[in-house]
Amino acid sequence: MDTEFYRIKRLPPYVFEEVNRMKAAARARGEDIIDFGMGNPDNATPPHIVAKLVEAATNPKAHRYSSSRGVPGLRKALSNYYGRRFGVELDPEKEAIVTLGSKEGLANLAMAISAPGDTVLVPNPSYPMHAFGFVIAGANVRSVQIGPGIDFFAGLERAYQHSVPKPIALIVSFPANPTAMTVDLSFYEAMVDYAKKRNMWIISDLAYSEIYFDGNPPPSILQVKGAKDVAIEFTSLSKTYNMPGWRIGFGAGNPALIGALARMKSYLDYGAFTPIQVAATAALNGPQDCVEEIRQTYKSRRDVLVKGLQAAGWNIPMPNASMFCWAPIPERYAHLGSVEFSKLLLREAEVAVAPGIGFGEHGDNFVRLAFVENEHRTRQAVKNIKKLLASPSNMPESSAKAAAND
Ligand SMILES: Cc1ncc(COP(=O)(O)O)c(C=O)c1O
Repeated sequence: MDTEFYRIKRLPPYVFEEVNRMKAAARARGEDIIDFGMGNPDNATPPHIVAKLVEAATNPKAHRYSSSRGVPGLRKALSNYYGRRFGVELDPEKEAIVTLGSKEGLANLAMAISAPGDTVLVPNPSYPMHAFGFVIAGANVRSVQIGPGIDFFAGLERAYQHSVPKPIALIVSFPANPTAMTVDLSFYEAMVDYAKKRNMWIISDLAYSEIYFDGNPPPSILQVKGAKDVAIEFTSLSKTYNMPGWRIGFGAGNPALIGALARMKSYLDYGAFTPIQVAATAALNGPQDCVEEIRQTYKSRRDVLVKGLQAAGWNIPMPNASMFCWAPIPERYAHLGSVEFSKLLLREAEVAVAPGIGFGEHGDNFVRLAFVENEHRTRQAVKNIKKLLASPSNMPESSAKAAAND
């Protein structure tokens, strides 16, 4: 039997797998690994949202198939959020859709709008789904390098000029995972202008819309006049309200793109469980002080982690949004690359991080740390890393030996 399945052949083994395996083995040996690896919020969903879920779940009417586009009340709540937060007006019928997390929305939109042979432009490094949604759909992904000191627009134009056929879409995502990069509205203005000139759709992923620390709240691309002609934007409740396991996100913007995603979803799913949608509505419409608390939690952890590592001699830029810091591998270990350096941290400091290569080839000089451990454990991690960085040999003998045996 042929097991060379077309799509599976195009999905490389999960890059984080190697480090995850080591992490599991260390834990099995009883080591207490401090884990900054995955951007998986560790704190509880605010109680009033959970209470709404429990209440709604007791209603038998809520046990039936739901609506794949999302219940009207939730689409309206999203539209109200866009109104009060960004001053953007959305038609909840045509310009808003509920997704099973923004990841599902990104993947099914890619399926809906692209075909084998189409080209899309994706920043590199970026959240893996930005590229792999299109890889799964069979499209060609062309990377555009992004990062501090890099002229993204120049890279974009180069990629456009060298693409045959011309790209159908471009992904943007700020605050960015993994780099924590942010942009202001003028960036989006230039982007919308460019996409219109080049006849491309824009897919914006604003998953970290509410996770910001210093400076202004991140803007939405839909604030740009005329953006809805070319852009769709995904947002999510996962990070804003500590609801990653609930699987609720949204698409908003261009009606043709929303319609294409809605058509796709009408074949694939019956929508999120209605009580989850009811509770999600309560999250968006209810008191927002919980969002400020979540923001403050990440901010304090960020300060402990980044300032602590800076004091230990690791020169990590302070991120002003997202739940990550994007740490250049210290010079002394740069030759290792991100996977070997991640393994070294695991072995010598009992700290897990995400190797930057997992976010694309241009990420290999970095590792990503997510603010998902409490301050106490974060302090312990800083101490462990400090000890490693202060160790006299370039690569401690024990890890050189272990590396040889890997
Ligand atoms: C940039 C970005 N987009 C989307 C997602 C997925 O979020 P959701 O839980 O809404 O699917 C993540 C999750 O880490 C992310 O970092």
